[in-house]
Amino acid sequence: MRLRLSGITKRFGTLAALDSLSLDLPAFKALAVIGPSGGGKTTLLRVVGGLIAPDEGKLEIDGEPVDFAEESLLAHRRRIGTVFQSYNLFPHLSAIDNITLPLVKVHGFAPEAARAEAQALLARFHLAPHADKMPAQLSGGQQQRVALARAIAIRPRFLLLDEPTSALDPEMTAEVLDIITELRQEGRDIIMATHHMGFARSVADQCIFVCDGAIAEAGPAAELFARPRSDKLRNFLAKVLKY
Ligand SMILES: Nc1ncnc2c1ncn2[C@@H]1O[C@H](COP(=O)(O)OP(=O)(O)OP(=O)(O)O)[C@@H](O)[C@H]1O
Ligand SMILES: [Mg+2]
Repeated sequence: MRLRLSGITKRFGTLAALDSLSLDLPAFKALAVIGPSGGGKTTLLRVVGGLIAPDEGKLEIDGEPVDFAEESLLAHRRRIGTVFQSYNLFPHLSAIDNITLPLVKVHGFAPEAARAEAQALLARFHLAPHADKMPAQLSGGQQQRVALARAIAIRPRFLLLDEPTSALDPEMTAEVLDIITELRQEGRDIIMATHHMGFARSVADQCIFVCDGAIAEAGPAAELFARPRSDKLRNFLAKVLKY
């Protein structure tokens, strides 16, 4: 896919969470967004996913400009499979209903077709025995797998993942990262903020380092990790790779 940002700025009060970001990634499959806490990763993903509008700037995805007017934004949002760090599921719906309901209500599937799709995805993610459980009866890793199944079910143009493993213990993290790796190998386009540097390095072809509301470095993931150019990125990597 292709991603182009020009002068994207998002302010919260006097704070510029994104301060005139520009970037042109002409062809990538998986983009890792890394950087320190509070640097602007989530804000950037929310702009890309059409969940918030920037105060200034332009965004183009696959050569198409994104229109941030409220009416158009909803359509943009619906074409993206978004998973956040937690609380992705409707708490009052079972795992399977979490997947089928948006398919029927938003994407126009017939109920039987939606159910068949959901069952196939649950089986694929080893969740078949949990189809009728409510989110509160599922482990965090299971919930995130349901959230990923739901994100794929809508046949999104790409997956937008914001630290989908940050609330999980190491074993559940591995389960979820395995699924994301599989989806990547299948050729799905992914934009993902992550604190797992090894994962970012192995799964992403492109990487951006977002720090203090700016893109401090961008480039092929392998290069960014092997040869950080700025002190900021060197210090960040030294810190996160220490333990
Ligand atoms: N809704 C909001 N209202 C006010 N300030 C906000 C809001 N959302 C984010 N911010 C601020 O914008 C800055 C960037 O936040 P953001 O959530 O994008 O960081 P992040 O890189 O995702 O951090 P983390 O790694 O902790 O998730 C932070 O200083 C944050 O406090
Ligand atoms: Mg964040």
